[in-house]
Amino acid sequence: MGLLRLLVLCTLAACCMARSPPAPPLPQRPLSPLHPLGCNDSEVLAVAGFALQNINRDQKDGYMLSLNRVHDVREHYQEDMGSLFYLTLDVLETDCHVLSRKAQKDCKPRMFYESVYGQCKAMFHINKPRRVLYLPAYNCTLRPVSKRKTHTTCPDCPSPIDLSNPSALEAATESLAKFNSKSPSKKYELVKVTKAMNQWVSGPAYYVEYLIKEAPCTKSQASCSLQHSDSEPVGICQGSTVQSSLRHVPLIQPVEKSVTVTCEFFESQAQVPGDENPAVTQGPQKLPQKNTAPTSSPSVTAPRGSIQHLPELDDEKPEESKGGSPEEAFPVQLDLTTNPQGDTLDVSFLYLEPGDKKLVVLPFPGKEQRSAECPGPEKENNPLVLPP
Ligand SMILES: *[C@@H]1O[C@H](CO)[C@@H](O)[C@H](O)[C@H]1NC(C)=O
Ligand SMILES: *[C@@H]1O[C@H](CO)[C@@H](O)[C@H](O)[C@H]1NC(C)=O
Repeated sequence: MGLLRLLVLCTLAACCMARSPPAPPLPQRPLSPLHPLGCNDSEVLAVAGFALQNINRDQKDGYMLSLNRVHDVREHYQEDMGSLFYLTLDVLETDCHVLSRKAQKDCKPRMFYESVYGQCKAMFHINKPRRVLYLPAYNCTLRPVSKRKTHTTCPDCPSPIDLSNPSALEAATESLAKFNSKSPSKKYELVKVTKAMNQWVSGPAYYVEYLIKEAPCTKSQASCSLQHSDSEPVGICQGSTVQSSLRHVPLIQPVEKSVTVTCEFFESQAQVPGDENPAVTQGPQKLPQKNTAPTSSPSVTAPRGSIQHLPELDDEKPEESKGGSPEEAFPVQLDLTTNPQGDTLDVSFLYLEPGDKKLVVLPFPGKEQRSAECPGPEKENNPLVLPP
């Protein structure tokens, strides 16, 4: 926990205390060492893909993100140390839960009416000759698509509802009961609802997604221990309940309700609980070999950033959205330093050879001197899910 932050603090402290010489004294130069690149360059798209893969792998909760477009990119080339990229990425939530650890290509962006979109800022270090790929820091801000706007194009589409909505919980419980009734021996319990929508079909319909864990008892066991009560989620289910109000039958007739459920189990990850020893897990991350599945790389456990969820833009009080420029619709802060001359970040642990390895980090660049070829082309042709 907080290893990187510690690392950064140590590095900063080391600088301040002049134990090591201060960051290379950059001459008084108006020219930034950050080199703008085109947002549609194939190399940039590859770097953006690696960064997003690392961001997804760092999550314990929520859905995997996919790249909609590269918004901005700068490269800071640092001789023997390779490059540090500053990426601003416009992202979309996919239908893959992060715990599924699926390959990016198997994950689809959500339907336009259930979209969650936003922006990530990331720093990504690449040293090709040394085969090092490393994400020192990231931060993202996401919002659901505006309900008002999607309803203009599709008034009858399902619309997202609060995850704590009692009807959503009821739909999850009912669909899981159906799954359990068909399960031969094991029983599953609800961990939490992760997605919820409603729609009016012939009556109220609810669509939910929820995580499940193994129940401590099998169906046949009369008594059982409660030792597994804090077990991890083992899968994710999609369920629905659709009521039809049969208007032509007398009111006494019960309302018909159809319940569906499909569950998908996560591949077991053979993780040793509590094994967060950074010396073991935070080894250098090699450039993937051909056919290397993302799951086979070492997992980095130190939190290096976070994904912030904000309400849809329409929900905000007018005061809040007024004064702000469009840029602030998706505020993402990512500053390892505020020193315009830069600071150094110790990344020696990424390199197997002895000796200090330090990257120069600069304050995250703003819009100035952005390449004319940015933002790049978007993958989803939908202006409602593009951050301004
Ligand atoms: C990431 O964002 C959070 C707020 O959401 C902020 O507290 C934190 O300092 C940011 N990280 C960096 C490295 O700027
Ligand atoms: C982006 O690059 C691809 C492949 O290099 C090219 O086909 C496409 O036209 C480019 N798009 C834009 C908007 O430049």
